[in-house]
Amino acid sequence: MEPENKPSPPPTDFDQFARNYRDVHDVNLKPSGFPSDYFAAQKARILVEESPAPDAGSPLRLLDVGCGTGRLEALILAARGGSAGIQMEGIDVSAQSVEEAQSQQLPGAAFRVYDGQHIPFDADSFDVIVFCCVMHHVPPAIREPLLKECRRTLKPGGGLFLFEHNPLNPLTQYLVKSCPFDGDAILLRSGPAADLLRRAGFRVLAKSFINFFPNRGVFQKLMPLENRLRRLPLGAQYYLRAARAD
Ligand SMILES: C[S@@+](CC[C@H](N)C(=O)[O-])C[C@H]1O[C@@H](n2cnc3c(N)ncnc32)[C@H](O)[C@@H]1O
Repeated sequence: MEPENKPSPPPTDFDQFARNYRDVHDVNLKPSGFPSDYFAAQKARILVEESPAPDAGSPLRLLDVGCGTGRLEALILAARGGSAGIQMEGIDVSAQSVEEAQSQQLPGAAFRVYDGQHIPFDADSFDVIVFCCVMHHVPPAIREPLLKECRRTLKPGGGLFLFEHNPLNPLTQYLVKSCPFDGDAILLRSGPAADLLRRAGFRVLAKSFINFFPNRGVFQKLMPLENRLRRLPLGAQYYLRAARAD
């Protein structure tokens, strides 16, 4: 049976991790040799480098689905050197996480709770929509409807980025099994994730595998090779970049 077809386990209540999300994650990630922020900063850099340009004279409008405590927004601001030219919206089902995100008072970023399926914005609102390690927490039955909502709210010419854990990587499997907030995780392989995007009305433009080596011993010497391995489906994570199919 495909993992996506398994019955959904009870959803993780991310409210209980809102205050100490990063600390819990840091402990979980110890075997990788990297802190949690390393991975989040990497995604922020990728978004800054690979996002499509906004309409002339308009700011880049970015929607972060499953924004959690707003860490990605803080790291995007750091990577861009400020909030000039960007407007970010974060949505999440966890009220405590959203409260935590709001408490940062980040310039150019707003956060709100939503129902997990219906995106509370008008059609054609965003240049970029991102899921950062969120889809494996979304019950399989609502993944496609949620992505169809993304299709509705993404501008023509906009880009959707789906960052996910790669179930083909053994360290990923270990870290997910031992993570206190991954009890509800149903991982998606990159192929089914791409099919899901296509069914929801997207064209997949690129697939990249990332995070091949732990930050330890001899593996550290291999890390400069990572960029050349992007097509090898063994990285601990991957991301898909997609555009509206029409
Ligand atoms: C592992 S956390 C990642 C948080 C954030 N993206 C980050 O990278 O720091 C997963 C987040 O997904 C949220 N989530 C779960 N189901 C969701 C849904 N249907 N829509 C949006 N967010 C959801 C959780 O509340 C949680 O904040």
